[in-house]
Amino acid sequence: MENKITSLAEYFQKYKESVADPDNFWGKIAESHYWRKKWDQILDYKFDGDGAPDVNWFVNGKLNITENIFERNMFMRKDQVAIIWEPNDPKEPEIKLTYGELFEKVKQFANGLKKIGVEKGDRVALYLPMVPELAIAMLACARIGAIHSIVFAGFSATALADRINDAEAKVVITSDGGFRGTKSIPLKSIADEAVEKCPSIKTQVVLKRTEEEIKWVDGRDIWWHDLIADMDYENQAETMDAEDVLFILYTSGSTGKPKGVVHTTAGYMVYAEYTFKNVFQYSDGDVYWCTADIGWVTGHSYIVYGPLLTGATSVMFEGVPTWPDAGRFWEIVDKYKINQFYTAPTAIRALVAQGDEWVTKHDLSSLKVLGTVGEPINEEAWRWYHDLVGKGRCPIVDTWWQTETGGIMITPLAGITPTKPSLATLPLPGVQPVLLDHEGKELKGNSVEGILCMKHPWPGMLRTTWGDHQRCYQTYFASFPGYYLTGDGAKRDEEGYYRIIGRIDDVINVSGHRIGTAEVEDAINQHPKVVESAVVGYPHEIKGAGIYAYVICEDMTDAELDNIEAEIKATVNKFIGPIAKPDKIQIVSGLPKTRSGKIMRRILRKIGEGDATNLGDTSTLLDPGVVEEIIDGAKVEV
Ligand code: WT7
Repeated sequence: MENKITSLAEYFQKYKESVADPDNFWGKIAESHYWRKKWDQILDYKFDGDGAPDVNWFVNGKLNITENIFERNMFMRKDQVAIIWEPNDPKEPEIKLTYGELFEKVKQFANGLKKIGVEKGDRVALYLPMVPELAIAMLACARIGAIHSIVFAGFSATALADRINDAEAKVVITSDGGFRGTKSIPLKSIADEAVEKCPSIKTQVVLKRTEEEIKWVDGRDIWWHDLIADMDYENQAETMDAEDVLFILYTSGSTGKPKGVVHTTAGYMVYAEYTFKNVFQYSDGDVYWCTADIGWVTGHSYIVYGPLLTGATSVMFEGVPTWPDAGRFWEIVDKYKINQFYTAPTAIRALVAQGDEWVTKHDLSSLKVLGTVGEPINEEAWRWYHDLVGKGRCPIVDTWWQTETGGIMITPLAGITPTKPSLATLPLPGVQPVLLDHEGKELKGNSVEGILCMKHPWPGMLRTTWGDHQRCYQTYFASFPGYYLTGDGAKRDEEGYYRIIGRIDDVINVSGHRIGTAEVEDAINQHPKVVESAVVGYPHEIKGAGIYAYVICEDMTDAELDNIEAEIKATVNKFIGPIAKPDKIQIVSGLPKTRSGKIMRRILRKIGEGDATNLGDTSTLLDPGVVEEIIDGAKVEV
C-alpha cells in the first residue's frame, strides 16, 4: 500500500524528513490522490499576525473527496465490501454495501439533495442514528460540495437548534427514530421541536427506520425514499478547491457555546487516509471496526473518510456494547472476523466491570490490532484489553488527537512502535508537538511536563471556527503566538514518549466526550429556582470523569427541595442532552469566590475528588466559611 510505513527504522527516517522538509513530505503523500488540478504550492500559512490563523494546504488544487473514495477505487474495488452495517438488534439482518453499491446510493442521494435546492457551499445538518444512510448522506453532501454538519443523535432539540442556527443550515436530514439497545429515540419529533426555532431550514428529509408515528409538516418534510424515488445514478462530482469547506463539527470549549470546527477538503482528505493506513497498519482485505458514533470526529475520520479513502472494509454498528448482553462487541468481532478494532477507554472500563466470560466465550483470533481514543486509558483497562481481548498478541494503539486536529496525531504505529500502557508514545511523521511552560518557553529534552502545542501545521488541522474566525485565533493561537494550543497537558518521558495528562482548561472529558463546564452551568442556570452554579469534573471509575455541580438555589419548600436534583438533571437534558447530565448535584448556600468574583474551581475540584485536606491558599476568598459548608455537604465516598 502506498505511503505506508512498515518498520521502526522507516518511521524514524520519515519523521526526520517530515521535519526537515514538510512540503516535500506531504507533497509526496498527496501525489497518490486524484486531483482534477494539481496544487501550485504545498503550504502557505501563518499562525500569528493579521487574519491568523491562515492555513492553506495544496494551494489552488482542485478535487472532490468522493472521487478519491469512489472513482479512484472503483477499478479495483467495485465488488469489494465498503461498509458492513450491524444493526442494533442482532436478529435483524446486516447490510453489506460494496464500493459499487455505495457509490450508486451516494450519487442518487446527491441528485436528491440537488433537487431540493442544495447547492455548493450550503450547509446540511444531519441528525441521524448509526445507519448506512448517515454515511451516504455525508458523502452525498461532499459529492455536490455542500457542507455537512453532523449533530450527534443524543443531543437535545435545543442543542440541535443552536447548531443548525449557527451554521444557518438549509436542510436537516433525520429519521423517524433510532434504536439504541432497548430504547427507541424519537429523532423526528426532537428535530421538529428544534426546527421550529430554525428559520434557515427549508426542507426536512426523513428516513424511515423505526416506523414510529410522527408528525408531518407538508411542504417542509419529505421522506428520504420519496426524494430518491425518481433520481438516477448519474452524478458528476462538483469541483472543489483544496481549501473549500468539507464539514463543520461542533465541539465544546471552556467558554461559551460550542464552536463549529471547520475542516477543508484536500488537507483533511490527505490526513485522514495517511493516518488511517499507518496507525492501524491496514492491509488489503482486512475488516476494520471503529465503534464510535459518526456524530463525533472519530466516526467522521475513522469510520467513513479514512477507511473509505483507503479502500478498506469498514464496519458500522448501530447499537450499544451491553445489549442484548455484555458480549456484543466480541460477538461482532467474531461474526465479521474483525482485524482492527478501535474503541474508547470508557467502553473498555464498562466491559471490565461485567466480567471476563463475556470476552472468553467468543473467538477473537481474527484480531490483529486494538486501538483506543478519546481519553487517557488507565493501566488496568489497558492490561485487560491487551491480555484478555488481544490475548497478548495484538498491539494497542493509544491514539491522541482532537476534533480540531482532524486525525490522529500522537500514537504508536501498530506493531511497529513499542508500546507502554497509558502512553500515546510518539508523534506521526508530519506532526511537530512541543511542550511549553506557562511563559510559552519550549521545554527541551526528555523527562519534562508542560502544555501540549504544535509548532507547525499539518494538513488535517482546523482552519477556522464557523462564523467567528477571531474565536479560533483566541482559543487556539493567542495564548502562545506561533503555536497551536491543544488544551491538554502532557509529559515527555525519559524515552521521548508522550503521556497525555488531560485538559488544562475548563473542559471535562466525560466518557471521551468533551463537555464545557460553562455550557453545563448555563443549562443548570435555566432552572427557575437556580441562582448560580459551578461545575467541575471528578474521577469516575467508568466514565473517566463525572460531572459534579455545586448549585445555589432560591429558598425552596421541602417538597421543592426533594425534587430539585431531578429537575436540574432534566433541565440539562433539555438544553444539552443526557451526556451532560450532572452525576452529582450539591445544593450550597455560596460558592468559593475571589474578591473579584471569580469562582475558584480548583477548590471545588479538590472537594469533588474527596481531597479536602490540601486546598491550598484560601485566604483570598471573599467568604472562607463557605468552603467548610461545602466540604461538610460534599457528595464523596469516604
Ligand atoms: C480531547 C479531544 C479525538 C477523538 C475523540 C475525542 C482527549 C483524546 C486521547 C488519548 C488521552 C485523549 C484530550 C483531547 N483525548 N484522545 N489517546 N489519551 N486523552 O475528540 O472530543 O475533540 O476531544 O480528548 O483531552 O484534547 P474531542
